[in-house]
Amino acid sequence: MNDYERAHAMAVRQFGAECAVLLRADGSFPLKKPGELALFGGGARRTVKGGTGSGEVNSRYSVTIEEGLEKAGFTITSKTWLDGYDRICDAARRDFIRSLKQQARAHHTLAILESMGAAMPEPEYHLPLNGKGDTAVYVLSRISGEGSDRKAAPGDVLLTETEKHDILRLNEQYGNFLLVLNVGGVVDLSPVMEVGNILLLSQLGAETGNILADLILGKSFPSGRLATTWSAWADYADLGDFGGRDETRYREGVYVGYRYFDAVGKRALFPFGYGLGYTSFAFSAHHAKADGETVTVSVNIQNTGACRGKETAQLYVSPPQGQIHKPLQTLAAFAKTGTLEPGESEMLTLSFRMRELASYDEHRAAWVLEPGDYVLCLGKNSRDTEPVAILRLDREVITRQCRNALGKPDFSDWKPEQRAEALPDVEILHITADEIPTESVNYDLHHEIDPLVRCLSDEELCLVNIGAFTPGLGPLSVIGDASKTVAGAAGETVNRLKDKGIPALVMADGPAGLRLSRQYTVDEKGAHGLGQALPESMMELLPGVAKWLLNRLTGGGKPKGEIREQNCTAIPIGTAIAQSWNPTLAEACGDLVRDEMERFGVHLWLAPALNLHRDIRCGRNFEYFSEDPLITGKMAAAIVRGVQRHKGCGATVKHFCANNQETNRYYSNSQISERALRELYLKGFEIAVRESDPCALMTSYNLLNGVHTSERRDLLEQVLRAEFGYNGIVMTDWLSASTSARGCKYGSPRADRIAAAGNDLTMPGCSADLKAMLRGLRDGTLTRTQLEINATRIYRMAKGLTEHE
Ligand code: BGC
Repeated sequence: MNDYERAHAMAVRQFGAECAVLLRADGSFPLKKPGELALFGGGARRTVKGGTGSGEVNSRYSVTIEEGLEKAGFTITSKTWLDGYDRICDAARRDFIRSLKQQARAHHTLAILESMGAAMPEPEYHLPLNGKGDTAVYVLSRISGEGSDRKAAPGDVLLTETEKHDILRLNEQYGNFLLVLNVGGVVDLSPVMEVGNILLLSQLGAETGNILADLILGKSFPSGRLATTWSAWADYADLGDFGGRDETRYREGVYVGYRYFDAVGKRALFPFGYGLGYTSFAFSAHHAKADGETVTVSVNIQNTGACRGKETAQLYVSPPQGQIHKPLQTLAAFAKTGTLEPGESEMLTLSFRMRELASYDEHRAAWVLEPGDYVLCLGKNSRDTEPVAILRLDREVITRQCRNALGKPDFSDWKPEQRAEALPDVEILHITADEIPTESVNYDLHHEIDPLVRCLSDEELCLVNIGAFTPGLGPLSVIGDASKTVAGAAGETVNRLKDKGIPALVMADGPAGLRLSRQYTVDEKGAHGLGQALPESMMELLPGVAKWLLNRLTGGGKPKGEIREQNCTAIPIGTAIAQSWNPTLAEACGDLVRDEMERFGVHLWLAPALNLHRDIRCGRNFEYFSEDPLITGKMAAAIVRGVQRHKGCGATVKHFCANNQETNRYYSNSQISERALRELYLKGFEIAVRESDPCALMTSYNLLNGVHTSERRDLLEQVLRAEFGYNGIVMTDWLSASTSARGCKYGSPRADRIAAAGNDLTMPGCSADLKAMLRGLRDGTLTRTQLEINATRIYRMAKGLTEHE
């Protein structure tokens, strides 16, 4: 290992512990010292470091839980069980792949297209639960990925009969029993709630096994808090559609996650914001004040237990119920202590601006703060708070006047019954409407055109608006060979116009680290990755001949010349990072990736991904942060700041927007009210844009109220650029314009319409995109001026990110 890899591994080991959420604790952990340990469960030896798809990082190694515990000095006494499980799992995997291929043949398609990201459900089996010692750990694991959604079925969202039986049995059999969840999303734990110790370890990247060993031995401590509600499957809202092929109606409106649980008065198994630690904390001496529209709450937090720990203070606001139906409470601010030794305390300050509490009134196309009492509640999670003050607003304020946009769904949002809550007896702070400004939006955007761009021919202009491609190869030129400069990168901007002064930008995936080929060779044509062109999970689904061809294409088989390496670090998945509730940690993760981008010559990282956890079944939730837009936006902004700390590195926030399912992801139409869009699905992006100025943004595959997001000019110009003040470049998601919409209600986006919408880059690019743009210029669906505007943005970004090279 190189020095930087060692340093990054150490950092991830430290960050990871802070992302783990202790859900139940009876005091048996941490253990005083290592000893005999009986280890069971699917994730013990097959530990999942992160999900599958473009977010899968090719790290040099990944420490499994079995390895981590052994390295820490434990003697694993259940090897027979682990070996038996391996055999069962291998056989189940072979059957699973076979059935996917059969299914694809029956549908006359390729398994890789039909079953990308499909997760093998946990098999049922019977293996004796033998293992010496008084301590047992069961590692429940799940995986999901790009291309498929999860299922509310045993072995996925639900536990299998084997898992339920084994977990409950071990809980009785061993003095110290810990259930570890090595998962990227929610699993219904209702059948095993009697277990005294449950740790949501998550998927923490290459060091996952070491991190668990540290936590079990008390070398580190868990201080994560849930960023998404964990409950029984039956408790989640069933108001809107999920997984609709053509149409997906978000009928629940703004009542997503805890907003829904609060609205219907349901108690979740583990509410939003929940988490324990090895110690306890007391909140005292809180004080609230309002200075103009800025509200600040300070609170003293003391470690009242016997171990070290960190606590998170969460501030929720219950707004007055006026003309606009509002959630009972929303998260308004949060802050986390540093490490507190027993007895030690720290004063935390949480603050927000009144305008951030505004609701979107569709009738007036405006953000509105209704007059009345806003109750501030402070506490440890969304269901464990105390009122600390009331903000009394004297009259209504329009905080921002907008223009309606984004189309309309064919339904009205669900509304819960209004509940009248008595006002608590706490201090009242008076806020006068005059102190809250009304922001005006300048929709009349001034677009610059660079003189260099003006001199380009029509064809050259189009090329700047398209990712670099090999003419003649079609979209296939992307597979594994998308960048000639950096092997395994996902794409490049135009690289044939360097002599005209337009530098090329290299882009590589994330978000759980930097996704490159680990090994590569270089010849006269450029860098070629060895193997790993596609994630392992996709390779399995390819027919033999396609695997062979791909291997040839990507220089596999017999590599010519020196084999070089570029080792990247797999960091915790997005959901885990959010669970830290610590933007400083998120920024450090971004900074770690930035270091590897610089080392390997990547300009744009295709991350962070910040779609909301609208439904626990979304197959890519592990890449995303939370069900709440505030924590989503804050974490994304922190990561972007970490990445962009160096002038030559930029982040790409994605997938903009309403990409909350994987089923028919290219052609599913997300129908959403403008209010839910603005208050939930766009909010995280808005925060990230305002607080971190990301270099790039990627539109999503899906349609939004009947139009592909990549082609929605109102979304990109009116909302993103005019209202949010976005200054970066916009690109499509990969192959948006090149897939076939056969059998779907909606068609594919087109490169000319994409460019006309102010979407600067069609990625990864192919000859058909060029043809579509040239045709658009002839037919009038696209103007040369728009191409010049887009090309200016690309050119200036490329110049800025490469000028130090
Ligand atoms: C994914 C993106 C990714 C891109 C490039 C797409 O399939 O949706 O998240 O950045 O591929 O690999």
